[in-house]
Amino acid sequence: MDPKSVPIQAVLIGAGQRGGDAYGPYALAHADQVRFVAVAEPDEKRRQSFASRHHIPLENQFSTWEDLLAKPALGEAALVCTQDWQHVQPTLAALRAGYHVLLEKPMATIETDCLRLVQASQENGRQLHICHVLRYTHHFKLMHEIIQSGKLGEVIDVDHRENVAFWHMAHSYVRGNWRNGGQSSPMILAKCCHDLDILPWVLGRRCESLSSVGELTHFKAENAPTGAPARCLDGCPASQTCPYFAPWLYLQLTPLWRSFVDTASGPEKAIMQVYLRAPWLIRLFSPLSTDLHRLAHFQEWPVSVLTDDPTPENLLEALRSGPYGRCVYRCDNDVVDHQVVSMKFTGGLSVSLGMHGHSHNEYRTTRIEGTRGRLLAEFGLGGSWIQVDEHRSDRRTRYNTGAGTGSGHGGGDFELMAAFVDSIRRGDAGTARTTVGQALESHLMAFAAERARLEGRVVRLDQDGVQLNRTPRDASKDNVTLEGT
Ligand SMILES: NC(=O)c1ccc[n+]([C@@H]2O[C@H](COP(=O)([O-])OP(=O)(O)OC[C@H]3O[C@@H](n4cnc5c(N)ncnc54)[C@H](O)[C@@H]3O)[C@@H](O)[C@H]2O)c1
Repeated sequence: MDPKSVPIQAVLIGAGQRGGDAYGPYALAHADQVRFVAVAEPDEKRRQSFASRHHIPLENQFSTWEDLLAKPALGEAALVCTQDWQHVQPTLAALRAGYHVLLEKPMATIETDCLRLVQASQENGRQLHICHVLRYTHHFKLMHEIIQSGKLGEVIDVDHRENVAFWHMAHSYVRGNWRNGGQSSPMILAKCCHDLDILPWVLGRRCESLSSVGELTHFKAENAPTGAPARCLDGCPASQTCPYFAPWLYLQLTPLWRSFVDTASGPEKAIMQVYLRAPWLIRLFSPLSTDLHRLAHFQEWPVSVLTDDPTPENLLEALRSGPYGRCVYRCDNDVVDHQVVSMKFTGGLSVSLGMHGHSHNEYRTTRIEGTRGRLLAEFGLGGSWIQVDEHRSDRRTRYNTGAGTGSGHGGGDFELMAAFVDSIRRGDAGTARTTVGQALESHLMAFAAERARLEGRVVRLDQDGVQLNRTPRDASKDNVTLEGT
């Protein structure tokens, strides 16, 4: 029998946003490729909901990863989709139990744990993949191809920015799961390890040294509007003017749709424009189309984070009593709201990565200047494009890289799952677009950037802190040997 006709059997650890809603649907849409046979999730509702969608028998439903992994391996693959600080132990245990692992980013919140994971994968002869979904998007694949084709000549200077929308910043990094570096990860790791993974890959060069500045400037008690209470719903005098007023963000979702409209194109943009002006009209016609129904009765991220059943009543209750109804100036957040990393890549190439949480829209921008041309790009919530201008001919080529993206992260979520399944079937992790060695490198760059920011100095990646001992071949493949772990 052709092994490709038999789905691989997978277990899920953590059936939250990513496990349940990003990767779970891939298995439902591609039953010939992967089947979830077990789940570990402490939240009973989430566990049962995932189990019922994937027809997982009761005996394979567990409250914790410890219980699941205490059993002999139930399949070939384990997806570890717990929170950042809960990645290391279940991954080590899963690798030891014989599973190939797909682990959410960041691999771990400290360098030595990242290295331990790579080592465990090698020692147990099991594949370890990290969810660097952006490598699997059409947008960044095309950017990689354009640079590698030599069309821009030699690349000299790069400016890449991650513009986190003000409402996303408030949601995830002020009120939400990644607000506090001690409880999750530094912002440069949590938000930008994808960018630090993309840049060396697209450019085909490695980072040699970097420096960084950044701090938390705005989301602090001294910036609270006069008289603002601890919760938005407790009679905040700034309810009509504050851009972070929780009911405006979560009940109307106006900024989310605006971000989408500003970067989308075609019929989707038109529908969204109508929705912003006359939501009642879209609601009226919503029974006629699944797309209109999805929009009018939106239940996905970010509202799905507030409650598993985001009805208007449940959302209101979540705002009254949960973390997402807190005043943004009175939270226990400490991660930066802006940071710049200046890097020197091999060959003297200068690369700047900027991240900030005060953008009007949610999008990444890239400018790459070469000796023969320039590349400009935008990767947005609603749409994406790349433009190349050639110096001598003045020829301009524009690519729409946002069309038909399907799953989350510009289609990257599903493409990543497809690559993971393919690597397991082939028995070769090297066929995936991000190898674990490359993922590790992006994480080490993030730790170095945080160290540079905190200590106010230039950090050399090969000489400072934890090092990778590489051969030239290792630089592009997985065979990383470790020193000093
Ligand atoms: N690849 C990406 O682009 C991307 C995007 C967003 C988030 N993430 C990462 O994905 C991870 C998960 O994020 P999320 O938003 O899905 O979080 P989440 O909180 O929605 O999901 C985590 C789940 O793990 C469960 N859990 C807790 N303890 C457990 C245990 N002992 N055993 C089994 N399950 C347990 C929780 O109950 C929860 O349902 C995080 O590390 C996050 O940084 C990655």
